[in-house]
Amino acid sequence: MVDLSVEICGLKFRNPILPAAGPTVRDGDALVKAADGGAGGLVAKTVSVSPAHVPRPNMVKVKDSILNAELWSDLPLEQWLRFEYAKAKKKGLPLIASVGYKADEIRAVAPKVKAAGVDALELSTQHLGRDLELVTEATKAAKEVVDIPVFVKLSPDAFDVVQFARAVEGAGADGIVAINALGLGLAIDIENTMPMLGSVSGHGWLSGPAIKSLAVRCVADVCRAVKIPVIGVGGISNERDAVEFIMAGASAVQLSTAAIIRGYKIYGLIADGMAKFMRAKGYNSIADFKGIALRHLPEQPFRTTSKPPEIIASRCTGCGLCEQYCVYEAAKVVRKIARIDPVKCYGCGMCVSVCPTRAVRF
Ligand SMILES: Cc1cc2nc3c(=O)[nH]c(=O)nc-3n(C[C@H](O)[C@H](O)[C@H](O)COP(=O)(O)O)c2cc1C
Repeated sequence: MVDLSVEICGLKFRNPILPAAGPTVRDGDALVKAADGGAGGLVAKTVSVSPAHVPRPNMVKVKDSILNAELWSDLPLEQWLRFEYAKAKKKGLPLIASVGYKADEIRAVAPKVKAAGVDALELSTQHLGRDLELVTEATKAAKEVVDIPVFVKLSPDAFDVVQFARAVEGAGADGIVAINALGLGLAIDIENTMPMLGSVSGHGWLSGPAIKSLAVRCVADVCRAVKIPVIGVGGISNERDAVEFIMAGASAVQLSTAAIIRGYKIYGLIADGMAKFMRAKGYNSIADFKGIALRHLPEQPFRTTSKPPEIIASRCTGCGLCEQYCVYEAAKVVRKIARIDPVKCYGCGMCVSVCPTRAVRF
């Protein structure tokens, strides 16, 4: 029997799959749907002193990812305080309220949000740019005015995410959430030559699979730099992605884009998938594989000579993907089994990454 539950800063989550701030947690009803969809805990849409004036249109699908210009909640803070958090609280899961942005705004909003019964705060730094001082001041302000855990959500636009992580830990943050959507991007409708988003200059932030590797790298770097727990977010769309973040050191994960595209059931599906993965690998708890990959991230010089991968013939289905993806023309399927020409092989690793049966490996 595997145990998916995690405890972070005293908050007990039934599983480590949480929603990220965004339209799928835009009000109390949406938060209830996330809970019913199987989320391990709840994170609400960012609120600030006044409602956002959200440009329309504000979301465009770019391949499997999303470019958005949604800003923070367009609902009045008072509505969140009186109705929306209370609705979500009825589900009995830990509820994290996302608040923004500058120290004076945090000082005004955080105590009210805490009084509304939320269990922790997440500070969104998305609109503070690369200003480390603004981020640390906001963190200190939150810690001054509330006694519940304060997570600081880092933006990948921060010049050096590790520097920001160390600074917010020093400013008293209880945990870090990494990362927010990546900006700024632009999508143009070539049929009418117009920007797809209605924001200033059509600019928006990128989320979804396109930013996953960036997010995993940030999480791994941050986890090696700080002692406080880190929640990973960015491009998670299945259990394997979620496991990858946890192996990079995350204590839990959040997702938004995948829930926008596939609906509220995604949280439970990923949690179930993770339990299945854990059973197959013999992991009993999240702690069994949390941060397990960090020890393999080399600091020493790398190999610059080719070492061709081997083919496990019993696993090879002859599908030909290795051949299709081999830009060096070293992989060939011969009589339904892949073969690697060691003279042509550059050792790039692409075939290893595309083989669906792990028949090609280093
Ligand atoms: C439409 C949309 C709205 C978002 N709104 C917020 C927000 O209000 N506050 C915030 O901190 N992050 C916000 N985000 C960022 C997400 O919480 C998340 O950090 C980012 O999308 C990366 O995760 P994903 O790839 O799973 O979507 C938003 C993302 C999207 C796509």
